[in-house]
Amino acid sequence: MLNFSFVNPTQIHFGEQQILEIKHSIPKGAKVLVVYGGGSIRKNGIYEQVVAALSDFTWGEFAGIEPNPSYQTCMRAVELIQTQNYDFILAVGGGSVIDGCKFIAAAALFDGEPWDILAEGAQINNALPIGVVLTLPATGSESNSFSVISNIDTQDKLPFSSELVQPQFAVLDPNVMQSLPKRQLTNGVVDAFVHIMEQYLTYPVDAKVQDRFAEGLLLTLIEEGPKVLKEEASYQTRANVMWSATMALNGLIGAGVPQDWSTHMIGHEITALYGLDHAQTLAIILPRMLAEQQQEKREKLLQYAERVFNLDTTEPDNAISDAISLTEQFFQQLNMLTRFSDHGLGEEVVPQVCAQLERHGMVALGEQQAVTLEKSKRILLASV
Ligand code: NZQ
Repeated sequence: MLNFSFVNPTQIHFGEQQILEIKHSIPKGAKVLVVYGGGSIRKNGIYEQVVAALSDFTWGEFAGIEPNPSYQTCMRAVELIQTQNYDFILAVGGGSVIDGCKFIAAAALFDGEPWDILAEGAQINNALPIGVVLTLPATGSESNSFSVISNIDTQDKLPFSSELVQPQFAVLDPNVMQSLPKRQLTNGVVDAFVHIMEQYLTYPVDAKVQDRFAEGLLLTLIEEGPKVLKEEASYQTRANVMWSATMALNGLIGAGVPQDWSTHMIGHEITALYGLDHAQTLAIILPRMLAEQQQEKREKLLQYAERVFNLDTTEPDNAISDAISLTEQFFQQLNMLTRFSDHGLGEEVVPQVCAQLERHGMVALGEQQAVTLEKSKRILLASV
């Protein structure tokens, strides 16, 4: 096992009616800016619950954070905060709203051009505190320190991370999932699944706890993911999917193990260029990434084949190829498309995505920096 320091300071309020808890979690006297997306919370009753819970606070709102939150929209919220002196941000939404709020929280107190936080990795020394009401289990953003922001003028989609923007608390009420369109439920399960894979499927370091936690989460998503798409999905199914998605990227399974974020990095470029949903990009790339990297990942692929899909590994090459096929079939079972051609895209994506990767210095990705531009090219071509 590798050395690590681990803390996850986000307090989780999990379960029915927990939105009310925000009244105890936001510091007394705070001036709260409620930030949300395109308005789904106004149609499904979440907005009313938030308003009721904020009755003791002075608060205002900022709506319109879009999927793949843009720098441009976030900066409008920064201006509102600076002119009206808000000192607490309540993010009510999915990964996009939460990521947007993390950037807003840092940009509002940043000395300089906030885009440099993303483009140059400029250091953040301060940020406004954030709380979250999660409406879409997928990204894990509700209890981690990562954020991904897009610049619509330059077609950049870039990540940043700071412990200063980690939410102080997050409310996870599985009932909010009832209004989610099937496409977003599918996206959520796939995104969480790929998060686990990118921390689990690297090379062995004898991290038994992390491996078995990861395998438990993968098995839970394989069991509950298809059920959550059904009209009659139970509260328990929603609860299990929601908690799996949070656990997939809250730092626990990634502590003390090598990590491989190559599928995510290629995926971000695809979204920036063609607007595919984040999880759609992952479902296209991951199977081909595993196939391309099967020598580097051989031992963990065999462990995955055996423990997650219960495959016989006496013929290792067959077991690996079956495990990769079963991964893609799982995505398809969730009605997720797994090829560029399914989205009307062809071989033109290969040079375009590679040019973006090169522009962003993503030329040695993965846990062993083995995913060169040449390999990314092969992965993209094989994914058409
Ligand atoms: O905008 P609203 O009206 O809220 O509608 C949203 C949006 O259209 C809708 N939605 C959310 N909750 C709903 C709902 N509709 C009905 N009922 C509800 N309860 O769903 C749509 C998609 O929302 P979005 O927040 O964009 O989805 P997701 O949570 O998948 O977030 C994706 C973003 O997170 C980033 C992605 O790159 C992408 O920009 N990621 C962030 C990560 C992190 N911070 O750790 C890691 C991830 O891998 C990912 O990169």
